[in-house]
Amino acid sequence: MPATTQPASSLARYGTEWWREGIVYQIYPRSYGDTDGDGVGDLRGIIEHLDHLGRDGLGVDAIWLSPIYPSPGFDVGYDVSDHAAVDPLLGTETDFDRLVREAHDRGLRVILDLVMNHTSDRHAWFQASRASRAGPYADFYLWQDPTGVDEDGRPLPPNNWLSFFGGSAWQYEPSRGQFYLHTFLVEQPELNWRNPAVEEAQLKMVRGWLDRGVDGFRLDVFNIFLKHPELPSNPEIQGMAPGTSAWDRQEHKYDRDQPDFPELIGRFRAIVDEVPGRMSVGELFYGGPETSATLSNRNHMVFDWELVRAPWSAAEYRDLLDRRQQIFGEDIWPTVVLSNHDQSRQASRLAASARIADTDAVARAAVAIALTLRGTPFLYYGEEIGLRDVVVPFDEIIDPPARRVEEGWVWWNRDGCRSPMPWTGDPGHGFTTGKPWIRFGDDADTRSVAAQAADPGSVMAAYRRLIAVRHDRPSLRHGSLRRLDLGGDDVLSYVREADGETTLVVANFAGEGTTVDLAPAGDGPWPPIGGSHPDPGAPDASGGLALRGLEVVILARR
Ligand code: GLC
Repeated sequence: MPATTQPASSLARYGTEWWREGIVYQIYPRSYGDTDGDGVGDLRGIIEHLDHLGRDGLGVDAIWLSPIYPSPGFDVGYDVSDHAAVDPLLGTETDFDRLVREAHDRGLRVILDLVMNHTSDRHAWFQASRASRAGPYADFYLWQDPTGVDEDGRPLPPNNWLSFFGGSAWQYEPSRGQFYLHTFLVEQPELNWRNPAVEEAQLKMVRGWLDRGVDGFRLDVFNIFLKHPELPSNPEIQGMAPGTSAWDRQEHKYDRDQPDFPELIGRFRAIVDEVPGRMSVGELFYGGPETSATLSNRNHMVFDWELVRAPWSAAEYRDLLDRRQQIFGEDIWPTVVLSNHDQSRQASRLAASARIADTDAVARAAVAIALTLRGTPFLYYGEEIGLRDVVVPFDEIIDPPARRVEEGWVWWNRDGCRSPMPWTGDPGHGFTTGKPWIRFGDDADTRSVAAQAADPGSVMAAYRRLIAVRHDRPSLRHGSLRRLDLGGDDVLSYVREADGETTLVVANFAGEGTTVDLAPAGDGPWPPIGGSHPDPGAPDASGGLALRGLEVVILARR
């Protein structure tokens, strides 16, 4: 029986625009909870831990599941061999419907990760397509004739496009005597979205998941669905610094961001919008916040990567917020992303960028900022306990581009941020009774959900407090943001306002304490209502606010 439940109305907050007001939590299913002892997380493992996420736990509003579909696993699930089913490695169709129901019962929406740019080469469509130039699937992929042969008689690719995972983006298929395009692995052939039959098949699949009760989608690498119809070579950028990757030496003019793409997203949204309150967010593949703002619309968010790229520096954050304000303005709704399954963990990355040893202190301060900015926060599993990048030895690497050994090829091993969640300090860490598919971090005996639940000073306690503050304050959820200069190179400050409510945020990026004058924020009084630390201090009688090292204080105007 498909689940057709919607989140219980008594539990669900914020009505149909919940995705602006709420917080999304990303789960990497293979690393959350393993109930069958094979070392790989599964859907039942997620169900077991829903209470960690719901109202009595962190208090997030939605879970986004990285791909759950059948996959040979070359790109760990992002190579999908059937978009309309559940991977038996992760569970059954019934498990999925139960997950949706149980999440809804706890007021949690369920967001699926749709990988629609490409399929696995094991997908039935590709099997049929590669076998013959005739038949219904012949044009489902981007097939092109060779442009000639080289001196050894080998076919030459149609243009200069590159794979993001290294090498040419074209793979020769002898059975058709043609090349097919793959922006990622050879095992991830690109779909031909200019073929109406492809669009129809994809939108039918989207409808299928919606009918099963899914509340929205994250669209994988969505801005590359359409290529220029004639597939011309990209211009090469001259004069790049030595060491620049081949990918960066091309202007990606024809293999992404095509002018007719917004219409395609419009057709996708028309289906999603048939029932109010469903959300979608596009993963911008390689692009700046301007592109993200351009591709966003009233109902559709687009990630931008400025916060992921920014080092831990108040000056950088001040610039970033000003730019963000300029680009997104009052009308476009941004996202707030510090981490995901492709990036170094925020505690490791930010602390390293400022040479700070205490990664937990940085993790607490960073999330206090993330949860008070304008935009929908997307939290990545494990960040709530300050997980750090795990160093995986070469012979254990799973991430395919990280296994590539080639001169000039540099890749960050994404396994480092995909390690299993340590729930307890016991052997297997409450994650598995078997051998985990990726090793735990060296600190998993002490860094676990159970350990942090008992410690009011922990990163997780900070997450819980800060999420509660955000939920309590309309100004933090949907208010305007005005940056303030309170002086001090290491201080970032801003005011959020909505519905007659004002919230002031003051962040000290330095390891040492400092005192700021709150006068530029206007008349108070300004009682503290939360922050990175469990015991934020109040301003003194003359409006001076003392902050400890790496402390963020949230204050409410009374
Ligand atoms: C997206 C995913 C990434 C994947 C790639 C190809 O960028 O986030 O994990 O490797 O798409 O599907």
